[in-house]
Amino acid sequence: MQPADTDLQPINTESVEEVVVPETPKPAFQSASVNFVKEGKEVVASQGANLRIKAVENQVDLYTFGGKLMNCGGYGQCGTCIVEIVEGMENLSPRTAFEERKLKKKPASYRLACQALVNGVVSVKTKP
Ligand code: FES
Repeated sequence: MQPADTDLQPINTESVEEVVVPETPKPAFQSASVNFVKEGKEVVASQGANLRIKAVENQVDLYTFGGKLMNCGGYGQCGTCIVEIVEGMENLSPRTAFEERKLKKKPASYRLACQALVNGVVSVKTKP
């Protein structure tokens, strides 16, 4: 069986206009960093990194003796991962409802590391 030649039209490439697709602006990469003041460690983090995970990854000890034995592993259940934010509180995610309850009697600069997401430069004091 032969294909029907009558339906095929030659393409006129001269009449085709070049289509310019506008580039969508890419969001600028924003890095974050965490300065663990007591330990003297400055750690680069990606936007939205979990503060507790950054500490654990960089061998920064967040827990007191009791916290070492009893911590919940970062699930926001125990309240043993308390840190003090020395600088850059505005670069962390807002306090969660659990933090509001657990840190009710603590200074406003205290956070639970496992509940805080880093969005910029912060300085942290562990075991305040
Ligand atoms: S590790 Fe348990 S609340 Fe943060």
